[in-house]
Amino acid sequence: MSLEFSADAQKSIQAACERYQVSGSKKPVVLFALHVAQKQFGYLSDDALRLVAATLDVPYAHVYGVATFYTMFRREPGGTNTIRMCTNISCMLRGGYEVLAAFEKTLGLKPGQSNKDFTLVEEECIAACANAPCAVVGTRYFLDIVPTQVEQIVSDLRREPHPESEVV
Ligand code: FES
Repeated sequence: MSLEFSADAQKSIQAACERYQVSGSKKPVVLFALHVAQKQFGYLSDDALRLVAATLDVPYAHVYGVATFYTMFRREPGGTNTIRMCTNISCMLRGGYEVLAAFEKTLGLKPGQSNKDFTLVEEECIAACANAPCAVVGTRYFLDIVPTQVEQIVSDLRREPHPESEVV
């Protein structure tokens, strides 16, 4: 294993362990540690998962299972901005697929693909159904999107990126 957590990352994971471990198990800290790892390394390689497992003394299979279940964890390098376009029921009914198609056309990417500046993800519900269709990029929500707004959204994100590393 060649990766190491930074001193700040180690400190924050240690603090989370002190606060959240249950009956000596550090499994409750796995989600948090994965976010910290993704923030530091950009994505969760096999080595990053091994580092989390070793740091928390949790089986690798458990860490792998968590990391591959949640869509917010990236297993490969991605673009600076990750556009998570929701196409779940409320967004689908209000034109989510048309907005997704506009993102695909503007970015030249299919869902799951990346370039230097962007990763495009077709996402499940992002808990903003009242303003469907919507997308989230880092901590920023784009609500009630119509396809004609997509070029402007992409151009704004090029000028002012919202990386997911700002989430943790
Ligand atoms: S269905 Fe899109 S935010 Fe809930």
